[in-house]
Amino acid sequence: MNAPILLLVCISCISSCDSRLSSRSVNQQGKTLVELCQRYPTDKCPYHHNYVEFYEALFSPLKNQRIRLLEIGVLKGDSMKLWEAYFPEARIFGLDIYDKAEYDTERVKTLVADQGNRAGLTKAIAVTGRDFDIILDDGGHRMDQQQISFGALFPALKSGGLYILEDVHTSFPELYPGYGVDPDGQNSTYAMIDRFVRAGRIHSKYLTNAENDYLNNNISRCLYFFRPNKFHSDFFACWKK
Ligand SMILES: C[S@@+](CC[C@H](N)C(=O)[O-])C[C@H]1O[C@@H](n2cnc3c(N)ncnc32)[C@H](O)[C@@H]1O
Repeated sequence: MNAPILLLVCISCISSCDSRLSSRSVNQQGKTLVELCQRYPTDKCPYHHNYVEFYEALFSPLKNQRIRLLEIGVLKGDSMKLWEAYFPEARIFGLDIYDKAEYDTERVKTLVADQGNRAGLTKAIAVTGRDFDIILDDGGHRMDQQQISFGALFPALKSGGLYILEDVHTSFPELYPGYGVDPDGQNSTYAMIDRFVRAGRIHSKYLTNAENDYLNNNISRCLYFFRPNKFHSDFFACWKK
């Protein structure tokens, strides 16, 4: 078996590269995510988790392509607007447990579904179609929701596509209580990632054998990102073969 490649990145190590990253990715057609955050202040922005600093490096090669992006979690539509502004050719889908149709535009379509319900996710994908370049989970952040969505939606990525599971820090009840972590912690999303690092295989108790197998057969590499700030901002990103 080929060992999966997992990169552990601590953002404090790369924050000194901030200005280099930003200047490299600015082009005539668009602003950087950090710049767009001034207009669309989601918690991915520098004032909070600052995932955008790292997303710039991951997303800038796709910036002007006709990509398909799906995000779980719409809230007030700020991240929909951020992606719409950053990716001028993208088709963007937002999935939320509540109706967010007020944020629909020519390129943004929202759908109602519970990310913890496979049947609901299957219905949503029947509407959006498959072959996503990027799927982001910024939804309810419970352990079952994060892992069921990962198992159910990873197949909807295109080859080479990227799945980002935001806010893995909800796996730490001492910091973020109420996200469904068992007393022994073994069901947490962080524990799933830790097992992947140690044993080279994804295993989630929330997933069927077929879903676990699909992930193990189709993940090419993953990255775990951690910022040692007061929020303990973490995300996990995996590319599809
Ligand atoms: C953190 S907010 C999303 C923020 C948004 N992505 C942004 O950056 O501006 C979380 C969203 O997830 C939605 N949500 C909560 N539980 C959910 C579930 N089970 N399925 C789908 N969406 C859910 C909430 O309604 C809320 O709009």
